[in-house]
Amino acid sequence: MADATWWKDGVLYQVYPRSFQDSDGDGVGDLDGVAMRLDHLAWLGVDAIWLNPIHPSPNRDWGYDVSDYLDVAPELGGLPALDRLIAEASSREIRVILDLVPNHTSDRHPWFLDALTGRDAEHRAWYVWADPSPDGGPPNNWRSAFGGPAWTFDGPSGQYFLHNFLPQQPDLNWWNDDVRNEFDRILRTWFDRGVAGFRIDVAHAIVKDRDLRDDPIAAPPGTGPPASADPPETFSMHRPEVHDVLRRWRRIADSYESPRVLIGETWARDLPDLARYYGGGEELHLAFNFAFATASLEATALREVIEATGVALADAWPLWTASNHDIGRLATRWAGGDEARVRCGLFVLLMLHGTPVLYAGDEIGLAEVEVPESRRRDEGVRADGRGRDGGRTPVPWTSEPGAGFTRPDVEPWLPLGRVTTSIAEQRADIGSVLHWCRCLIRFRAALRGSRFGSQEMLDAPEGILAWRLGSGPVFVVNLGSRPARIDLPGTIVLASDPSREGDTLDSALDGWSCVVVLDPQAGWISDADAARGAAFARHVRWEGGR
Ligand code: GLC
Ligand code: MG
Repeated sequence: MADATWWKDGVLYQVYPRSFQDSDGDGVGDLDGVAMRLDHLAWLGVDAIWLNPIHPSPNRDWGYDVSDYLDVAPELGGLPALDRLIAEASSREIRVILDLVPNHTSDRHPWFLDALTGRDAEHRAWYVWADPSPDGGPPNNWRSAFGGPAWTFDGPSGQYFLHNFLPQQPDLNWWNDDVRNEFDRILRTWFDRGVAGFRIDVAHAIVKDRDLRDDPIAAPPGTGPPASADPPETFSMHRPEVHDVLRRWRRIADSYESPRVLIGETWARDLPDLARYYGGGEELHLAFNFAFATASLEATALREVIEATGVALADAWPLWTASNHDIGRLATRWAGGDEARVRCGLFVLLMLHGTPVLYAGDEIGLAEVEVPESRRRDEGVRADGRGRDGGRTPVPWTSEPGAGFTRPDVEPWLPLGRVTTSIAEQRADIGSVLHWCRCLIRFRAALRGSRFGSQEMLDAPEGILAWRLGSGPVFVVNLGSRPARIDLPGTIVLASDPSREGDTLDSALDGWSCVVVLDPQAGWISDADAARGAAFARHVRWEGGR
């Protein structure tokens, strides 16, 4: 447990608490529910869970509008439930990571309620206020991520306040030292309580341009050179000063005997920009790579982004994810619900050099659910205009009514949809996606501690993505529907089609299938083990039992 770099070898797992497990029959998942399912996570081989926001919130943006940073929402079980969860998780060597939302508070947060009382209020300068522009309109041209201007007028004080998201999510003023000091205290409070780290919401955008300058406007296509050489959102986001705040938090995280981990939601401009959030070891430990997450499951596209990540993050540790509560689920986005594709997607996600993040449900290839208009909960919008509810529906634990998520007679807060598979059914089937996922995690664990050197993408025929980990294993996946051939020496030790384990890779690889090949010459495992590759695979598949 004391390993200071556990987050490098580990597998992280995102829990959307409201949709994971309901323990009290109110149709809403809660923290005692998460604790009830820890055995599943331990069996799967997860090292840490990241919980989406659990603080009291009016839930205009489902917890991303915090009204008290130092408490836990009553419907999730309150502080005692978090303490129980941390203790239960820790007894299984699973760490608990919280979501920090420093960009904005809820408009019901006492700080904002105070700020609304007038220009002289104690917390007025904790938020970003500005006078109207000369024509009476918003102070500048910044846009809310959810559409419309990022400014709302406050009649009584005659000023506008800034909100990068909903008007009910006023942005904090990170130029204010009181805000900085208060967040230092918030971080320490949770770290002292045993929290292992934070996923930091909107980590690339909390500091705004001090002078609130207009964002550059892109010229309409075909109208000549752009009006400005600066990319859009130059002043409303991506400010260089955000790095000061990240460094400050890193110092706090590192001051603990068992260092805490900082993971950023970093919608970076490009991969070199992403690398900057690691700050040469002085800022984030891990930063979400959305270039990868939003790429399609296609060999050329993935090779490009993986190679570019390798170059940009030469001195930093990559973080890979393909699903979350905003972008949706990999089983739908990457795989269109097709099981073979899900297996290949999980293979890429879990076998690349770096740390993978699974989103609850990924392990069974859970697809998004069509949420009818009348059941919609989310007011935000996804870039593809589809809304985010479909990727936030409850995890199906069993195939009974209520899906083991809640009581059979209770309507869950978001619909379960048609439950076509469940964790229990897949657990009972050694050939399931769930067992495949666990097998990949166990394979990763077997690599733990081995130092192969860096990852190298291999030239491969169309449709195939292949990479070698230093002098160690070679990973090959056919991301096309046609069989394809690649000749590599060695023994197949793991395959989506288990009948190939123990063979050599001298015949074509089926469409949408994947293998790990070990060359005995590489000397990673003993010759005898390599020769008995199938035995090794069986060991990975079976050791530890069902
Ligand atoms: C992040 C969260 C998203 C939320 C937004 C505003 O992008 O992941 O769910 O709506 O921040 O807090
Ligand atoms: Mg509940």
